[in-house]
Amino acid sequence: MIYFFYIFAGLLMFYLIYFVWLFNKTKVPFMGTRKKISDLILKNTDLKNKKIVDLGSGIGDFLFSAEKQNPKRLVGVELSYLFYFFSKFRCYFKKSKVVFLKKNFFEFDIGDFDVVYFFLTNRVISKVQEKILKEAKKGALIISLDCELTDIKACKVLKTDIGSRIYFYLII
Ligand SMILES: C[S@@+](CC[C@H](N)C(=O)[O-])C[C@H]1O[C@@H](n2cnc3c(N)ncnc32)[C@H](O)[C@@H]1O
Repeated sequence: MIYFFYIFAGLLMFYLIYFVWLFNKTKVPFMGTRKKISDLILKNTDLKNKKIVDLGSGIGDFLFSAEKQNPKRLVGVELSYLFYFFSKFRCYFKKSKVVFLKKNFFEFDIGDFDVVYFFLTNRVISKVQEKILKEAKKGALIISLDCELTDIKACKVLKTDIGSRIYFYLII
């Protein structure tokens, strides 16, 4: 019995250290987009036949929801091996067509995508904005959960009943 306790405590310790290390590295905590929020975004966005990328896809929560709208291509870019493998695992069991890449999204070109989604923090958002202004194609829709971009004017902002804001930007 005591062995189970040691295994459990060891795993808990591992997860805690891993999450602190990852947060320190990315400046972004892990939190999936809640279903309620995904549903609201999807109600306001037409993804049919579009190419969509999630920058920092976590365990794929947003992309698996978005898949219901039948986009042409869905790509999740995630830095953490743990979340990447878990996303792949979910993908297999859901028989999903989402493609997950284990990569730093700052090293991934977004120029081919019609819709760029992210749920990040203000600590990285100015660098993400720079990337968007440099790479996103004309007509691309940028959707940011909770982080406002300062150099692009939002074409729509939705407030949720749990205090989140969803910002929509159109690249012109
Ligand atoms: C708040 S979570 C959002 C997860 C997912 N987008 C969703 O909405 O369900 C942010 C994720 O971004 C990842 N991340 C942060 N910086 C990254 C980077 N530079 N490259 C790739 N992934 C990154 C983190 O590991 C984390 O899983």
